Amino acid sequence: MAHIETTAPFVGHNPANHEGSIKTPIYPTSTFKFSSAEEGAAHMETAYGVPGAATPSQPNAIYSRLSNPTLEAAEQRLSAWDESEGAAFFASGMAAITTTVLAWTSADRPLWFCPPLYGGSEHFIREILPGMGVHVVELDHLNHLDAMLEKENGRVPGMIYLETPANPTMQLHRIRKAADWARKHETENHRMIVGVDNTYLGPILQRPLDHGADVLVYSATKYIGGHSDLIAGAASGKSDVIARIREYRHFLGGMADPNTCWMLLRSMETLSIRVRHQQDVAERVFTHLRSHPKVDRFISAWAVDLPEKDRALAAEQMIGGGAMAAFEVAGGRAAAFRVLNAFEHFQLAVSLGSTESLAEHPASMTHAGVPPEVKTRFGITEGLIRISVGIERPEDLITDLDQALAHV
Ligand SMILES: Cc1ncc(COP(=O)(O)O)c(C=O)c1O
Repeated sequence: MAHIETTAPFVGHNPANHEGSIKTPIYPTSTFKFSSAEEGAAHMETAYGVPGAATPSQPNAIYSRLSNPTLEAAEQRLSAWDESEGAAFFASGMAAITTTVLAWTSADRPLWFCPPLYGGSEHFIREILPGMGVHVVELDHLNHLDAMLEKENGRVPGMIYLETPANPTMQLHRIRKAADWARKHETENHRMIVGVDNTYLGPILQRPLDHGADVLVYSATKYIGGHSDLIAGAASGKSDVIARIREYRHFLGGMADPNTCWMLLRSMETLSIRVRHQQDVAERVFTHLRSHPKVDRFISAWAVDLPEKDRALAAEQMIGGGAMAAFEVAGGRAAAFRVLNAFEHFQLAVSLGSTESLAEHPASMTHAGVPPEVKTRFGITEGLIRISVGIERPEDLITDLDQALAHV
C-alpha cells in the first residue's frame, strides 16, 4: 500500500467529480437546491432524526451549517492524515474543544482533566463548564485515577481530557494509561472517552489514536493551517465520538466556512514537509540554545530536554520532539522583554506552528489569565520566553537569538 505522505495530501478530492479540476472548488453557498419536495423532506427529516423518515435517494448537501462539499473534503483529508474514522472542522480550536467537551459531558458525565492545559481550554473548563452543571475534576497525575475514583465515591467521568506535551512546560501524560482505564471503567450505558489536544505535535509527530485515545482536538490555526493566515479547529477520532460532536456542531453552529476549508485543504498538502522541515531547523536552533551561556533553563519535548523519567514515554508515544521550546533568562520580565524587543527574524506574536518563527512571553501573554500559584507550580516564570521555530535558515535564527540574548 502507498505511504500516507503519498495519499493523505490528496484525499477528499476526485477530479472526475469536478469537471477534471485538479483542485477542490470552494462552494460559497449557504444552501443547496433539492431535486424535489419529497427529496427535501427526506433529507431534513433524516438530519433531524424524525421517526419514519424516508431515506434520501441522492447524497445532497442541505445547508452549509450542517455540511458543505469543501468542508467535507477537508474533513476527509484530516481524517486520512490521522488515520481516524472521521473528522470535523470548526471555526477555531476553541470551537472544536468546547463543542467536543459539551457533547461528551453533562450533569451525570463529569469531566476529569490534567492541568496545565492551553489557557483558553482551562478557562472554559474551570470557569464556564461548572456553571452548566458539569462536575469538573482536576487530576494531578494519571497514576492517581483509581485514587480519584475513590475520592469521587465511584462517580466515573464521561470524559478524560489531556494535553500532551503540555504548553509551554512540555509535561507528558501517558495516553495509553488513560485509555486503558477508560476501557476498564466504561459500561454499555456509560461510554467514557479520552480526548487529547494534539495541537503541539500534530498528526505527523504524535498519533494518540494509536495509543487508545477516542478523539483528538486541534487548533488547526497552528501546524494544520501552518501559515498564520487562518483560525480553525478540528476534532478527529472514532466514528461514534465524531457523530455526536457533529450533532452538537449542527446546533452550536461552530463549523469552519468553505473559504477556510479550501485553505486548510491546501495547507494539508504540505503538512508533512512543513512539520518535518521545521523540526530539522529546530534541532539546530535548540542545540545552540541548550548550552547558551545566557539561557538558564531550556525546555523542549526533545528527549534530551525531558526529565529522565519521561524519556521512555516520549520514545513510545511521540514520533519527534517538534519545533516548540521555551527558555529562561536571568533578570525576570525586564530581561525577557529586552530579548523579545530585540528580535529581528523571530516575530513577537502569540500562536505557533507557522512558517515564520514566533516568540512570546507566556507569563504576560498566552498564560496571562493563569492564577499565579498555578504559574509557579508549572514553572511559567517571568524570565521565560517561548519560541515556535519556522522554516527559516537555522544559522540566521541562531544569529538572531545570539544578538537578542546579548541584551540580558
Ligand atoms: C494547545 C492549544 N489548544 C487550543 C488552542 C486554541 O485554538 P484557537 O486559537 O484556534 O481557538 C490553542 C491556541 O493557542 C493551543 O495552543
